[in-house]
Amino acid sequence: MVLSHPTALLVRLLHVAGVGVAVGGAVLTWAASRRAVSDGRIESARTALAVAETYEWLFWGALGAVVAGGVGNLGALGLAVSGVETAWGTTLALKLGLLAAFLAGSAARTLSVSFAATRSDVDAAATNRLRVAYALTSVVLLALVGFGEVLAHG
Ligand code: HEM
Repeated sequence: MVLSHPTALLVRLLHVAGVGVAVGGAVLTWAASRRAVSDGRIESARTALAVAETYEWLFWGALGAVVAGGVGNLGALGLAVSGVETAWGTTLALKLGLLAAFLAGSAARTLSVSFAATRSDVDAAATNRLRVAYALTSVVLLALVGFGEVLAHG
């Protein structure tokens, strides 16, 4: 079977490792901003913003690996990729549609984090925006993982 080929396994590893970094980082960034909102200290707010800035770099690197791995997954499946008239094909189309919207939203999130980082100080509203943005990022990433699980062969 094509999927048991070592290259296909490496491609899957790339896909899944990228997903792990993106999801784990989003949850950590959400936790740091949530903590800053609840304790109200300026040091915690600065830390949350620094964590968010670092995560944005990791996020785009990880998503690059996930997309490359995803395209590789399709290549490994070859002719076994089903059309949109099947449940598998519909799931893939939904996943890619959600991903496209998510990437557009993520570009806005990255811009807003980099604008916040250029300001001389962080206020409570900015920290709260981080908390909401990373909660949303985590939820959408988990939804994409759910679609991926439905797609997985064996
Ligand atoms: C261009 C983008 C993407 C494409 C083309 C793509 C394609 C695929 C395909 C074809 C599979 C099934 C692999 C198989 O049956 O062996 C899969 C599995 C999976 N995908 Fe994606 N995917 C993409 C992005 C994502 C994203 C953004 C996430 C989550 C954040 C994700 C999470 C998963 C997971 C958890 C699996 C199951 C594990 C596996 O089979 O390797 N994918 N993907």
